[in-house]
Amino acid sequence: MTRNLPAIAWLGTGLMGAPMATRLLEHGYQVRVWNRTRSKAEALKSAGAEVFPTPGEAVSGAGWIFVTLSDFSATETTLNQLGLAGKVLVQMATISPHQSQVLAALVARKGGDYLEAPVLGSIPEARSGRLIIMAGGPEILFNRVEQTLGILGETPRLIGEVGQAAALKLALNQLIASLTVAFATSLAYVQGHEVKVDIFMDVLRQSALYAPTFDKKLPRMQSREYSHPNFPTEHLIKDIGLFLQTADGIVSMPLRSMRELYEKALSRHRFEDYSCVFEAVAKTENHQK
Ligand SMILES: NC(=O)c1ccc[n+]([C@@H]2O[C@H](COP(=O)([O-])OP(=O)(O)OC[C@H]3O[C@@H](n4cnc5c(N)ncnc54)[C@H](OP(=O)(O)O)[C@@H]3O)[C@@H](O)[C@H]2O)c1
Repeated sequence: MTRNLPAIAWLGTGLMGAPMATRLLEHGYQVRVWNRTRSKAEALKSAGAEVFPTPGEAVSGAGWIFVTLSDFSATETTLNQLGLAGKVLVQMATISPHQSQVLAALVARKGGDYLEAPVLGSIPEARSGRLIIMAGGPEILFNRVEQTLGILGETPRLIGEVGQAAALKLALNQLIASLTVAFATSLAYVQGHEVKVDIFMDVLRQSALYAPTFDKKLPRMQSREYSHPNFPTEHLIKDIGLFLQTADGIVSMPLRSMRELYEKALSRHRFEDYSCVFEAVAKTENHQK
């Protein structure tokens, strides 16, 4: 075990939390994990994690606490159970700017320090330490944890105050939702007109319209196979909802109808990859590849 590294509590070892906590273990940190479903935390034991039955026990021996729970409500409920005096809390889930400010106030009331640090990237980037980490909070706090965040993402950035990194993250997830629907629409359209998909992709890749996410999602849309998601559809719907709640008076846009498309896809593909929105976009059942 490396000396002088703070003991870290990691709350939430889901799809993102597990590989992120594992990276800290690989870099010599003592990591005390808790997950509501204990088996997911137990899976980190072989990497050296200590597993605790409650979040309170996990944080009691740690100076820093990293949280990757699914949403605001799960995070608030969990933090309400904890003593946080003198502790640093790094919140990495995707929540809204206002929700992040509420959590910051909660942590401050308990005598702790709060930094929001949402991430762009998914499981492969979490495993390899290539997440894009956007932090919001006091610079002095960011400086304290920057090196540790650097194990999870190459160049963690301080964006501004609490809420601003959360807003930036939602702006980017709006792009994920919109680009995926836009791509699914054009793909279904060319298939409907029997234009070869290879030709469509060649032209698209040559153009200024291309985004790498198109090639990442094409195999799933072509095979219509959406299982084992890196980013489940329900989380993207959560993020569209958060964007809509916080966009009033700022932008006017067709995101409500886009959310309906994802909800329609979710009703049939609950825990599947968000590229299943293709099923809601395409009207015909059989598409040529
Ligand atoms: N997956 C991605 O590609 C990705 C990328 C960037 C950001 N994010 C964001 O990161 C966060 C985590 O995402 P994820 O993909 O890791 O999700 P996930 O695999 O669904 O994990 C969610 C975690 O939250 C826990 N949880 C849910 N409800 C809870 C509750 N009421 N009380 C206590 N624990 C609860 C789950 O515990 P159980 O195991 O017991 O269910 C699990 O540990 C989300 O905000 C997501 O939007 C995800």
